[in-house]
Amino acid sequence: MIYRWRRLILGLAAVAAALSIAMPAAADDDTIKVGVVVEMSGPFASYGRQITNGMRAYMKAHGDKVAGKKIELIVKDTTGPAPDLAKRVAQELVMRDKVQFLAGFGLTPNTMAVAPVATEARVPMIVMNAATSAITTKSPNIVRVSFTLPQVTAPMAEWAAKNKIKKVYTLVTDYAPGLDAEATFKKVFAANGGEVVGSLRVPLKNPEFAPFVQRIKDARPEAVFIFTPAGETAVAFMKAFAERGLDKAGIKLIATGDVTDDDGIDAMGDAALGVITTHHYSAAHKSPENDAFKKAYAAVAGPNARPNFMAVGGWDGMHVIYEVTNKLGGQIDAAKAVAAVKGLTIQSPRGAIVIDPATRDVVQDVYVRKVQRVDGKYFNVEFDKLAKVKDPGKS
Ligand code: DHB
Repeated sequence: MIYRWRRLILGLAAVAAALSIAMPAAADDDTIKVGVVVEMSGPFASYGRQITNGMRAYMKAHGDKVAGKKIELIVKDTTGPAPDLAKRVAQELVMRDKVQFLAGFGLTPNTMAVAPVATEARVPMIVMNAATSAITTKSPNIVRVSFTLPQVTAPMAEWAAKNKIKKVYTLVTDYAPGLDAEATFKKVFAANGGEVVGSLRVPLKNPEFAPFVQRIKDARPEAVFIFTPAGETAVAFMKAFAERGLDKAGIKLIATGDVTDDDGIDAMGDAALGVITTHHYSAAHKSPENDAFKKAYAAVAGPNARPNFMAVGGWDGMHVIYEVTNKLGGQIDAAKAVAAVKGLTIQSPRGAIVIDPATRDVVQDVYVRKVQRVDGKYFNVEFDKLAKVKDPGKS
């Protein structure tokens, strides 16, 4: 008899353990936990710093209570491009910490690895940077508030062709966003009468730019179009570009705004002056929303810290999380959360953005900018704009 009871109890315990692994249990009733998967250390540490500061700035400006619940961030470091680690920390966040949202995501490989976790655990996943076009197709629970590489690259290719640049060499980082940028530039530039005379790809980890830059110099194109992920990689490229004297050889530099992002641009110094880029955010953007954003950012990151496009992604991503939490009265369900943000318009520091109901990506203005010195500092000064741009591969 005793044995039968014991078998029954052990059996029940096993079922309970299995259930707790298979399903995230209900969270504390009075908090909404946001699991943030970002790069906080290593060469991409600026991504985590910018994204989490942008999120905290939003909370500072809007309070940390929504629908009667306290918003709590739980930040996990991916240390760089490390998909297995990103997946593991995301699983811990949904199983152990019982987060109601997954958020953050600087690098594409980490984001792709977490997508199935968001699907299986039925948790909404707010992508605040990673910009490979296909990301939103990897889980129905993904909403992206940042941008896509095709969305910001197509305007650069059009601008170049219209401004009498006919022969371009491309150089991209050899991973998904770089391949998106390369393919889009080639297609749109050719459609506008330009010719890509050569293409190079450099590794994501520890790229050595000098030999690549020399090959481009020897080919004598009118311009080089580049995509590298923002931060240290972009600063290293700019250094090689100046050291090998491409600017002095009359080769123009055009790029997506990742290369001259607001976080790295002062480290580039004069080498960046005059570079033309297309992107969705510049700290120099003039609007009341951007002023409020920069003020809140300074309050959490210090008076000398400058927010970049990733910080805007963090800010707008929190805006989405607050909207959803309000609309659902604090009871978060992935399908309802995604439905609640489809078609949502947000007054972002970059301008108005809309979550496209068809793609769960952002429709937004893309700016053409030139690096200039303003009050002794370097900025991407906007001088033209393409309105309401979608990812050209998805529309
Ligand atoms: C990624 C994309 C970017 O545009 C960038 O600057 C950094 C990272 C990415 O998707 O990995």
